[in-house]
Amino acid sequence: MQIIKTKAELQQCVAACKRQNKSIGLVPTMGALHEGHASLIKRSVSENEVTFVSVFVNPTQFNNKEDLEKYPRNLNRDAELLASIKADFIFAPEPEEMYTPEEMNTRFQFDFGGLDQVMEGKMRPGHFNGVVQVVSKLFQLVQPDKAYFGEKDFQQLAIIRRMVSVMHFDLQIIGCPIVREDSGLALSSRNERLSHDEKQTAVNISRILFQSRDYALTHSVAQTQQWVVDSINAVEGLEVEYYEIVDQTTLLPVSDFSHAIGCVTVYCGPVRLIDNIKYNG
Ligand code: PAF
Repeated sequence: MQIIKTKAELQQCVAACKRQNKSIGLVPTMGALHEGHASLIKRSVSENEVTFVSVFVNPTQFNNKEDLEKYPRNLNRDAELLASIKADFIFAPEPEEMYTPEEMNTRFQFDFGGLDQVMEGKMRPGHFNGVVQVVSKLFQLVQPDKAYFGEKDFQQLAIIRRMVSVMHFDLQIIGCPIVREDSGLALSSRNERLSHDEKQTAVNISRILFQSRDYALTHSVAQTQQWVVDSINAVEGLEVEYYEIVDQTTLLPVSDFSHAIGCVTVYCGPVRLIDNIKYNG
């Protein structure tokens, strides 16, 4: 496995793969890798001849300086995990390698078709501009046949699918299911910031989401939405930022549960956690 720091080196590696007609998988990450990332990377390794994993804490998608500073970083540990699951290349650039100072300080413009007006987009203005900015650069540099993203960031996945269609990228986006601990807690790099007790508390988020599937059998969308918010807020140490039940493609509010997904953001102490649940199986 090779660690690449510069765009020039990356482009040379990609060109060599293309000359040999090798299929390329790309897994974009911000590092602090866990079993959730590993599931995406293993899938890429099994479906492509070469797998590139980017490890880059993208400054332009953070709208909170403290969150950016506290984001866990450990390239050596990530590299060990990546070697053990047979990724071929890690692309781990510095911000200056990815962005000019002007790009760093200007919001990247993109027509989200409204997908950024709800949930994470509403709460974190500019977040998805930064995501599209970095992912489009990675797609241009790596030119993958397939790129892999987790369904935990469901809105991000919907936006990346739109970006691929609007920008005419010739590649396939593969959405991969959420990986959970045995307790049900969705794996996230942010879990590293939870204390032992906070982690026990956070388990209630997925427990309530799963219970809401039963509740939904006999209640309306609005009632289910309210029940989830009230049940999570009733747990000491948890505070819901939003819970929206929306259409899986348009992310617009729904009136019935066919093709519906519930997306939640919860503060567990100072740590902001997200999770989601599909209601149609
Ligand atoms: O999901 C993430 O970790 C990031 O948003 C991504 C897709 C790697 C872009 O920085």
